[in-house]
Amino acid sequence: MTGELSPIDKAKFVAAKKAVEFVEDGMRVGLGTGSTAAWLVRCLGEQVREQGLRIKGVPTSTRTAELAREVGIDVMSLDEARWLDLTIDGADEFDADLNLIKGGGGALLQEKIVATASDQMVVIADAAKEVEHLGNFPLPVEVVPYGWQTTQALVEEALVSMDVMGRKATLRMNGARPYITDEGNHILDLHLGRIGNARQLAMVVNQIPGVVENGLFIDICDQVVIGYGDGRIEVRDINEGTVNEDRLEFVESDNLFSDI
Ligand code: A5P
Repeated sequence: MTGELSPIDKAKFVAAKKAVEFVEDGMRVGLGTGSTAAWLVRCLGEQVREQGLRIKGVPTSTRTAELAREVGIDVMSLDEARWLDLTIDGADEFDADLNLIKGGGGALLQEKIVATASDQMVVIADAAKEVEHLGNFPLPVEVVPYGWQTTQALVEEALVSMDVMGRKATLRMNGARPYITDEGNHILDLHLGRIGNARQLAMVVNQIPGVVENGLFIDICDQVVIGYGDGRIEVRDINEGTVNEDRLEFVESDNLFSDI
């Protein structure tokens, strides 16, 4: 079954598998959203069922909550957990300072709240997510539905004085209707091409009325586990650079692969 995985899926899988090493018995763990995070949840579920790992998972979306329950992970809300030992999540882009763009899957708000409430954030990503400058991936910005077109105009206006290449904001759609986040909001995708000063942009965008949160994660991520299609893995630490290089074999496991 694993032979049918594309190189990108293999890269996501080995990154997720490696990240399980960060999880210790008794931890409260933030569970990210997206295809890479879904691999992590499956791997953790296997550890829970077969190795007796005891963790509490705090999901960052209804999708992840459903999957976590399905694979046997005890789920609790952030309000129950209050503070987490670790969050493991995917990303759409990461740079050399381990700053991120997230929210391609629409869960950036809960993801940012959960990651910020964690002692440590570990990102799992295939190597194609590494960029010199953030911004090629459209930056998701969560906005309240009320007056979203006015908010869009204000965001585009604010971009005029920002160090970015493109300035267009588009409303994310789900078929013929606007995409609705878990919190009942919409998402504007900002097509910026290249972001010169991500820290400044994040602050300016968040000051606009109607904006709830943006997908720039600045100084939040501590380590990135980078997976490659041939099974190689690199763990990069914010302070120490590359701290671990490894290689994982693809071992078929009915428990992990049966539903794909
Ligand atoms: C979800 O809202 C996102 O932040 C994801 O973490 C991000 O889009 C990465 O997704 P994939 O793992 O599916 O590439």
